[in-house]
Amino acid sequence: LFARQVHSQPFQPGASFGIAFDIDGVILRGDTPIGGSPEALKRLYDDSGTLKIPYVFLTNGGGVPESKRANELSKLLNVHILPSQVIQGHSPFKQLVKRFENELVIAVGKGEPAVVMSEYGFKNVLSIDEYASYFEHIDPLRQYKNWTKQQASYKKKSSREMTGRDDPCSQRVKAVFIVSDSVDWSRDIQVLCDIMSTGGLPGTEISRQPPLYFANDDLSYQGLFPTERLGMGAFRIALESIYNRIYPNALEYISYGKPNPFVFKHAENILMQLVGSSISNQINGQYPLKTLYMIGDNPLVDIDGARQAGHHWFSILTRSGVFKGKENHPWYPADLVVDTVEEAVDYILRKEA
Ligand code: G3P
Ligand code: MG
Repeated sequence: LFARQVHSQPFQPGASFGIAFDIDGVILRGDTPIGGSPEALKRLYDDSGTLKIPYVFLTNGGGVPESKRANELSKLLNVHILPSQVIQGHSPFKQLVKRFENELVIAVGKGEPAVVMSEYGFKNVLSIDEYASYFEHIDPLRQYKNWTKQQASYKKKSSREMTGRDDPCSQRVKAVFIVSDSVDWSRDIQVLCDIMSTGGLPGTEISRQPPLYFANDDLSYQGLFPTERLGMGAFRIALESIYNRIYPNALEYISYGKPNPFVFKHAENILMQLVGSSISNQINGQYPLKTLYMIGDNPLVDIDGARQAGHHWFSILTRSGVFKGKENHPWYPADLVVDTVEEAVDYILRKEA
């Protein structure tokens, strides 16, 4: 009754449905909008540009702060997107800030991984690029890597005056966060093996490796190239295989991102906050958002994640990315399969009308 009452007043407290959009392979390929995504999103706003249907982006990607990503997406997709509508693979790292607030932590990946972590509140964070630049000869292949102008040069001596912090060469690394896809696998695997086995103090031994967190465990994702590209999960396998061949203790790590059910729960909370619903409704066993739609292209990640998140999640698989099958996926079937995100949104709006 509650849901029906408010149904005629979309985006009022208690609006009855919300949508979570995957990005890569659904909304974009690289930076190119696909599947009629700008048109699909436009339908979620009224004529004055006010949001009328609660939605979030639920991506395993990342590398820039949510506020920056929201701006980039707004420009690409021609709608006004709030930072709170952007949930990235690394967004849950925020919850670990209390544990590592003042400790030296290393941030790995494309984009601005250290900026991401600093914005979350980590006070002593270095990107792996900067960290590696303090250690001469750490990457014997560096001189051959003329493929980037931005390759950080070796910093002969660091000092508090220069960096505003203690010399990273004599500080123990307390945790490593793989924020986004590694740019230089060979250097990053080498440096991560060093940190995991020595705590970042070359030549020393440690009893327990520092905690290692991955923003997602995607084997592959859909970029602009027709065939899927290797993702963070592939990098994790490479690092883990090498580490486990060299060192006696198996590499320990935690992977965040979809398909973990807590990620979908977080999306649900954000969607409820967007409609101004109180979380206490959920605690009382009532779901103010009766149906939550997940639109994704990866059966193992988006569709299985939505299935695990509960019966109130309805999964829609698009054929615009990782999944290219004619019928439904045999092992991780979606509630609906469509070609594009535009078709998915049309279906939802028809069903909820
Ligand atoms: O690197 C991004 C990729 O692993 C997944 O992105 O938006 O499809 O969850 P998305
Ligand atoms: Mg995807």
